[in-house]
Amino acid sequence: MTALLDRTVADRPAALEVRDVVKTFHVSRSASGNNRLRALDGINLSVGRGETLGLVGESGCGKSTLARTLMLLEKPDSGSVTFDGQDPFSLKGKDLLSWRRRVQMVFQDPFASLNARMTAGDIISEPWATHRGLHRTSREREARLAELLQLVGLRASDARKSPQEFSGGQRQRIGIARALALNPELIILDEPVSALDLSVQAQVLNLLNDLQQQLGVSYIFISHDLSVVRHVTDRVAVMYLGRIIETGTTEDVFERPLHPYTAALMSASPKLDPAARPAERIVLKGELPSPLDPPSGCRFRTRCWKAQDICAAEAPRKRTAAEAGRTVLPMPALRRPGLPVEHLAECHFPLAVPAGPDAARE
Ligand SMILES: Nc1ncnc2c1ncn2[C@@H]1O[C@H](COP(=O)(O)OP(=O)(O)OP(=O)(O)O)[C@@H](O)[C@H]1O
Ligand code: SF4
Ligand SMILES: [Mg+2]
Repeated sequence: MTALLDRTVADRPAALEVRDVVKTFHVSRSASGNNRLRALDGINLSVGRGETLGLVGESGCGKSTLARTLMLLEKPDSGSVTFDGQDPFSLKGKDLLSWRRRVQMVFQDPFASLNARMTAGDIISEPWATHRGLHRTSREREARLAELLQLVGLRASDARKSPQEFSGGQRQRIGIARALALNPELIILDEPVSALDLSVQAQVLNLLNDLQQQLGVSYIFISHDLSVVRHVTDRVAVMYLGRIIETGTTEDVFERPLHPYTAALMSASPKLDPAARPAERIVLKGELPSPLDPPSGCRFRTRCWKAQDICAAEAPRKRTAAEAGRTVLPMPALRRPGLPVEHLAECHFPLAVPAGPDAARE
């Protein structure tokens, strides 16, 4: 997917648009008496065709809830999700089935996500039982199954084996083949390689890259591993307590973060260019607050090394790199209309220089 960094993604309109999505769960009452947990609190993002969007953030910030919402496994309380302008939550019957075909998911754990009582062939071809129009004859289905196995680097004879007979990397290939069985346009990858050994991770990432080059599929790539995200994504969205607090091209977000939270995350991640690395690591104070009782104003203020009085009183709006006083280099190939490649951060005081000079240092 690194090859995509050289490719223009901005000349293609966004395929998926998420606008102001809120998702609340009813849970046991907290000490303050609240029982409504806002897992997603006004999410906005777009994914372009053939693009890989990275989604990063600490455990519990809402990444999987967002993925499940896009898979229609959760219904948002408010806001909209559209794919090519169609709202899946308003669709029924055949139209809904057709939408479901277009967005698929690969799960984190290749051991738990495959049914041990089915063969690899049955697992991969299972979606065709619901989407009957796709491959009508058994000969068509067999040919497509062999093609999918080949596409993910397995043999046609592997169709008869059960999941226990495969290694972790091979099982993840089966999960990817299953996601591809319906010819999706967008695949959500929720920690797709974190359960795998390093060398197997590289094979699966290369496979995902090759498939994207061949099929033009878009990915949302969710991961805790920032070096992997940096390697495989075109753009990145950083989440904190149910909100996306920074978005931009992968290079902008990793090398020139605007948000103090992103700067802290990135200061702990390996850099390609050691000269661009902050001298020391920025250490965050405290734990992630509970989404049941989020802080007033800016949600990050209880841990922020740049916080001022206004941060408790007012929620910050999104600001651009130019508003932070940065000189923004023109990138004509990426500045075309269609895809929002603008570098934005939700902060009253976005960082004017790539690393905070007055940061809390280790
Ligand atoms: N079904 C549910 N009922 C109640 N709370 C939920 C439910 N699903 C998620 N949550 C809560 O919503 C918040 C976001 O959870 P989510 O699983 O989306 O986080 P995540 O970013 O995927 O974390 P991780 O990196 O650990 O996978 C968490 O506080 C979680 O406890
Ligand atoms: S708004 Fe204030 S507390 Fe929030 S990230 Fe910016 S400086 Fe920190
Ligand atoms: Mg998760």
